[in-house]
Parts: sequence; C-alpha cells; structure tokens
Amino acid sequence: MSDVVAGSPATESGDKGDSALLALRDLTVAFGENLVVGGLSLDVAEGEFITMVGPSGCGKSTTLNAISGLLPTTPGTTVSGSVDLRDDVSLAYAFQKDALLPWATARKNVEVGAELGGVTRKDRADKARDLLAHVGLPDVEHKYPHQLSGGMRQRVALARALAYDPDLFLLDEPFGALDAFTRMDLQNKVIELWRESNLTMILVTHDLAEALVLGTRVVVLDAQPGQIHDIVDNSEWGSDRMAEMRSSSQFLEKYRHLFDTLVALSRKRAG
Ligand SMILES: Nc1ncnc2c1ncn2[C@@H]1O[C@H](COP(=O)(O)OP(=O)(O)O)[C@@H](O)[C@H]1O
Ligand SMILES: [Mg+2]
Repeated sequence: MSDVVAGSPATESGDKGDSALLALRDLTVAFGENLVVGGLSLDVAEGEFITMVGPSGCGKSTTLNAISGLLPTTPGTTVSGSVDLRDDVSLAYAFQKDALLPWATARKNVEVGAELGGVTRKDRADKARDLLAHVGLPDVEHKYPHQLSGGMRQRVALARALAYDPDLFLLDEPFGALDAFTRMDLQNKVIELWRESNLTMILVTHDLAEALVLGTRVVVLDAQPGQIHDIVDNSEWGSDRMAEMRSSSQFLEKYRHLFDTLVALSRKRAG
C-alpha cells in the first residue's frame, strides 16, 4: 500500500472492493490556496482501462502524480485522503512529454526501463530489442531520439514503460502532439498491448473519441476543484474495439454525451 498521507485508508474503512487493484479515497490535493483535487474517490479493478477527461487544469496530471507517488513535497503542497495500491502491483508512468534520454539510443532508453524492472544486465539488450519490435520499431535500436519522429519516440517511451513489466500503466496525454493517423496507429497499438497482457490502464486524454475508443470506463472530471462529475461505462465493446466501433450509433451517442457534458462544465465555469 502507498498511502499518500495518513487519512482514511480504504482498507480500514472496509468498503474497498476485493478486486480493486487501486482505490482512491477522498483524495484531496492543494498547492497553497489552490485546491486542485477535491475529494476524489475511485476503485479501479484489475484489467480495466480507465480513460480520464476533463477541462484543462482540473487536476488530471496531479491525480496521476498522486497515484504514482510523485507529488511534489514542496512547502504549501497539502494532500489528504488515501491512494491504496494493492501490495503486489508494480506501476509504470508515461508522462505527457516522452522524456527519453537524448544522449542514449532507443535501445538504451528501453534498457533503462528493464533495469528498473529488475532484468539482469545480460538480458536487458534482448528484452529491449524484443520490446522495440513489439511496439512496431524493429529497426531503430541504434538511433537517438532526435533521429526519430514524434510517433516513433512515443513508441520507444511505451517500450521503455513496458520493459518495467508493470501491472498498472499510467499514461498522461501520451499522443497529444501527434497527427491524427499516427495517433490512431498508436491507439491500436495500446489496445493490442492491453488485450495481450494483464495490464490495468489509466490514460488521461483531451480527445473524447480517444477516451471512448480506449476506455472501458470514461471518468469525466469537473474543475476547481477536480472531482468526478460523471463515469461513462463503456465496457460493452470488450477488447475488440477498433474501427467499426467508431461509427456505431452507441459510440456517437456516447461521444455526444461526453461533448455536451464538457461544454456544460465549461459554461458553468465561465458563467
Ligand atoms: N507542482 C505544482 N505547484 C503548484 N501548482 C501546481 C503544481 N502542479 C500543478 N499545479 C496546478 O494545479 C492545477 C492542475 O494542474 P494539472 O493537474 O496539471 O491539470 P491537468 O492535468 O488537468 O491539466 C493547475 O492550476 C496547475 O497550475
Ligand atoms: Mg495535465
């Protein structure tokens, strides 16, 4: 368990579902006077793919930071509630920027993840090569990040996170800066990785279609302070969820619902 602070740990309150891999209970984060996350509670079951949408600044990245234990400890940061991660769970986090090491080749970048994941030195290069091929980059092991396109760098970042062999994978707007086709390609790749493994995913995006294509549940956050406004159940597509789904009538209805919800939230703030 990684309680962020003493508070009301879910395990003691007794209301944590047995299958929850992660339980957030009344998570509250303030930076000085700025109450950013205001009492967020959510259970995430093993194998779920949670996508998170909400207005800019509503605390999405802050929530992922809290889950991963990466909140700043600077004076003025106050945190309460609890983040309860099942004991056996290892976690990887892909940040908004790909954050590859610029002086290391693609393979070396992936090896860093493998090293953190406890892979022995002699197996790291093989593991990195396998993972690069697995994310669709069989020929870049000796290339440096500046020699790769944005989409390729994101694939290397995915491979690096996977090298850590995580159970829970947090992704913060991983495809934000990519063109539409590269984005769709990577969405397919992420779904494939998720389907083939026992990964539990939490992915933040500002793209509502992406949230619906990827998520088994879409969590809609309101801002000031960030809290859950709505959760759209999207599990009926299971893991077989790509091309045909985007043009189905349920998809369009849900897209409309998400769009209207976010417009209403932004009007409420503006008014
Ligand atoms: N380390 C920090 N110190 C002070 N303020 C922060 C810090 N991190 C985030 N914030 C503030 O918290 C709010 C939410 O930020 P963030 O979680 O990044 O939002 P989102 O990811 O939803 O766009 C913003 O107002 C941001 O300026
Ligand atoms: Mg953010």
